Amino acid sequence: MTNTDAPASAMKADLETMTSLAKRRGFVFPSSEIYGGFEATYDYGPLGVAMRRNIRDAWWRAMVQERGDIVGIEAAIVTAPRVWEASGHVDVFHDPMVDCLECHSRLRADHIEDGTCPECGSVGRFSEPRNFNLMMRTNVGPVEEGTPAYLRPETAQGMFVNFENVQQTTRKRLPFGIAQIGKSFRNEITVKQFIFRTREFEQMEMEFFCHPDDSMTWHVYWKKERLRWHYSLGIRPQHLRLRDHTPEELSHYSKGTSDVEVHYPWGWGELEGIAHRGDYDLRQHAKFSGKSLSYFDPDTNEHVIPHVVEPAVGVDRVMLTLMMDAYDEEVLDGGDKRVVLHFAPDVAPVAVAVLPLSRNDRLVPTAHRVWDVLRPHFRTQYDDAQSIGRRYRRQDEIGTPLCVTIDFDTIDDDAVTIRDRDTMAQVRVPVNGLVDELRTRLDSMRPQIPSIDEIEV
Ligand code: GAP
Repeated sequence: MTNTDAPASAMKADLETMTSLAKRRGFVFPSSEIYGGFEATYDYGPLGVAMRRNIRDAWWRAMVQERGDIVGIEAAIVTAPRVWEASGHVDVFHDPMVDCLECHSRLRADHIEDGTCPECGSVGRFSEPRNFNLMMRTNVGPVEEGTPAYLRPETAQGMFVNFENVQQTTRKRLPFGIAQIGKSFRNEITVKQFIFRTREFEQMEMEFFCHPDDSMTWHVYWKKERLRWHYSLGIRPQHLRLRDHTPEELSHYSKGTSDVEVHYPWGWGELEGIAHRGDYDLRQHAKFSGKSLSYFDPDTNEHVIPHVVEPAVGVDRVMLTLMMDAYDEEVLDGGDKRVVLHFAPDVAPVAVAVLPLSRNDRLVPTAHRVWDVLRPHFRTQYDDAQSIGRRYRRQDEIGTPLCVTIDFDTIDDDAVTIRDRDTMAQVRVPVNGLVDELRTRLDSMRPQIPSIDEIEV
């Protein structure tokens, strides 16, 4: 199985549809909306928060919990500014920027095609390109002119500066990894595609330290593993591919990077970067801090500077990808349309909806009893507003895999109806045993993923 040449296959949702659904259903709100919003800044609503937790949990499970060779840390967002001098971000983390002399839009020079301003259409009317550093600055301390510092533009440096601390406290031998999930900040110039590129975002990054001789093998391994992870979330393989960076595209620290790319409606775009950072970062921090950041190999009695392979992905971008990939509009018998998000059960914000047939007083205690049984086991939502048909549509639209309906027969026979989102089939089952039945059904809705040997990169 190879994804390098995956055929382009259009997603059914465009950004406008997605932005509107996300707001209407409480996934993503424009930030500071009552004040007219704040460019490229978003707040996550109840369903968005649930989904982001699922994404983080899935990543942590795959990268830390299920492995013995990776440990986690949480480093500070604002660190000693020397960290960013050593990492190279102060000197080289910038984009070339121009101003349109007609409409005064500030644009990335490398995003301008055929000399035409994408905002106003004027041709060849730009200022000279200037380099614009993407790091957000702040001041630390109680006075306005306190010490200047930066909000981190990547979580990665937290792992490099803690390499020695982690290695010594865990006694890990090479190869081993350090993982972290947390917010990063960049003064991005072009921020157009909803939560695809924002100025505040959350990264899930892992630095895998290995012997230099093994680093290419590990790079290949991580490309395969990360592709498998995206499949495990349910992203359709035909919407994913791996693409190697050209030498001109490589970041200042990279010896080679492959991106996991997604075929979005606006073209292929980066979802995750898998970089071979060599020994760049450890050497830089050793030089700037004066500490020796080498590893003593007890097998060979030699000191080595480990090489690093880094899979790095954004929570926000994974969420957008999952929503766009899962979106479907189906025409039902009779001509009705239903909007469905075909989320995999582990990422769906709600796994099981509990729906009493009506708000009738006789039904409510039974429905609440069923809900009480389910809440400790699943992410649930109780919905009793409007007709049952409308409620099924609402649950389809937020991607809930299973609905449990409580009707008047439930009061007598203690059985409920399970309704499947994808097939819309309904089956009656006893409340006793309902948890196991739902678990089995959710398990059967999980994506099948290829073994690592079946993936070619
Ligand atoms: N430490 C390496 C690094 O930060 P990157 O390719 O710049 O590499 C890694 O970022 C991932 O973080 C990207 O693939 C993307 O998923 C996410 N990301 C980067 N910039 C982002 C932004 N402005 N908004 C949302 N996500 C972003």
